[in-house]
Amino acid sequence: MDKNFYITTPIYYPSAKPHMGHAYSSIIADFFARFKKIDGFNVNFLTGTDEHGLKIQRSAEKAGMEPQIFCDKISKTFRDLSDTLNLSNTDFIRTTEKRHKKTVHHLWNELVKNDDIYLSNYSGWYSVSDEAFYNEDEIEEVEGKKIAISSKSPVEWIEEESFFFRLSKWEKPLLEYYQANPDFIAPESRKNEVISFVKSGLKDLSVSRKSFSWGIPVPNNKGHIIYVWLDALTNYLSALNYPDKNDDLFKKFWPATIHLIGKDILRFHAVYWPAFLLAAKIDLPKRVYGHGWILSGEEKMSKSKGNILDPLEIIKQYGLDPLRYYLIKEVSFGNDGNISQERLEDCINSDLANNYGNLCQRVTAFVNKNCDGKIPLEIKFLDEDLLILNKFKDNLDNIRSKIDDQNINFYINYIVNSLFEANKYFNDQEPWKKKNDQIRLNTIVYTTLEIVRKISFLMYPIIPESSLNVLNIFNIGEKKVELNSISDNEYLIKGKKLNKIDILFKKIEKKND
Ligand code: ME8
Ligand code: MG
Repeated sequence: MDKNFYITTPIYYPSAKPHMGHAYSSIIADFFARFKKIDGFNVNFLTGTDEHGLKIQRSAEKAGMEPQIFCDKISKTFRDLSDTLNLSNTDFIRTTEKRHKKTVHHLWNELVKNDDIYLSNYSGWYSVSDEAFYNEDEIEEVEGKKIAISSKSPVEWIEEESFFFRLSKWEKPLLEYYQANPDFIAPESRKNEVISFVKSGLKDLSVSRKSFSWGIPVPNNKGHIIYVWLDALTNYLSALNYPDKNDDLFKKFWPATIHLIGKDILRFHAVYWPAFLLAAKIDLPKRVYGHGWILSGEEKMSKSKGNILDPLEIIKQYGLDPLRYYLIKEVSFGNDGNISQERLEDCINSDLANNYGNLCQRVTAFVNKNCDGKIPLEIKFLDEDLLILNKFKDNLDNIRSKIDDQNINFYINYIVNSLFEANKYFNDQEPWKKKNDQIRLNTIVYTTLEIVRKISFLMYPIIPESSLNVLNIFNIGEKKVELNSISDNEYLIKGKKLNKIDILFKKIEKKND
């Protein structure tokens, strides 16, 4: 079985302060990366910054800085963000790096070699904010200004000499590819959107610009700068040292398992990127997943709209794991999600403090009082214990396959239900009434501790730091977190003293409680 897993986030424009939408993309990718890691996969998890193009050049000018210095500074805030979000990324790529330029040039030359690039003139609408070309029917006029209908960003008219990529030639092959690989674009609604866009006809794509200088020059034609999306998308290959096909990273991790992106950049990833790859005779990634937007009110949260819930502020106030848990649970994956501080607080109280935190505190307090602070030595399972314990084993393959379908909603519901069941089990078994039957008391305690361990393993991809805090009571460190072992009902070492547990999640006092 293929035990390699390559996941990418989009590389972020370093033109804005990171916001919740960026945090969301990264946290979701980290969730998948960590799940695969504990399931024994070699994981390559790439993120980074997208630093070329007119948008960045203009931002740098506005800041009164040289573009490279501007990018160095802001790229660092994204690198810092990956630490703040506790991402397990294995690389961080910048499109201003040498390794990337080399790959972009190689790809460009392949496209030229295969006669997929020609010189002509471009005239049409362009949005600098989206770094995208728009057809006449994709723009509208609002208050005397032309804007793109889909993104609402302003467009400007461009006319200049430009190299073109023969995108039209790939219309039919792309449609055939979508047909033959029905899982290539997910979720289903996005796939339909892409197919109908391609069916409506593809025009050749302008892939170079002459009117500014901040970017990768077209090889042997210094007057032209390579279109920033052709440049940016190639990062997924540069990070694997393509074109060195004998490179270990490339051999192991290409084609990518999944490009995780927001739905606003679907066309680039599900139409242009596969067309470039087909033209260059490179295998296509296995999946492009377009998640929804984090909304604020009814609108996409974005810097230009000024409706930002700052992830750094939220983390300062509530901690990282509550935010990770909340975003993973409350935004139905694939759809847009409206987030609010109030619902974040509810989520912390109900799921983390009352459900998970409470189970851990209760059982460990009980062990301290009734079992000398030790994992019970002598136990004898009854049917009701095995029933609840075996559910984890019985569901393991199902959980794996749901994750391969990016069904995060299933995963989180499974955990929440397991927590309810575990609390109910402890209540119903009433170990405090079994003080005359030490073996029964021991068994209930052991079973509950085992459930805490299993659930903490499943929690690890969502809230790594908190789950490790819980697992620390059993002396289980990160390296020992292995998914397979949730099938084991007697993993915990009997007779061992539990380490002290700290308060896991503080309940939030709400004003109207
Ligand atoms: O698009 N909710 O970069 P970017 C959810 N450089 N996701 C959101 C969001 C929101 N409110 N706002 C943004 C770019 N995102 C390019 C990518 S990849 C070769 C180049 C997501 O910084 C957005 O959908 O504008 C995208 O997936 C990511 O943040 C980066 O956006
Ligand atoms: Mg954007």
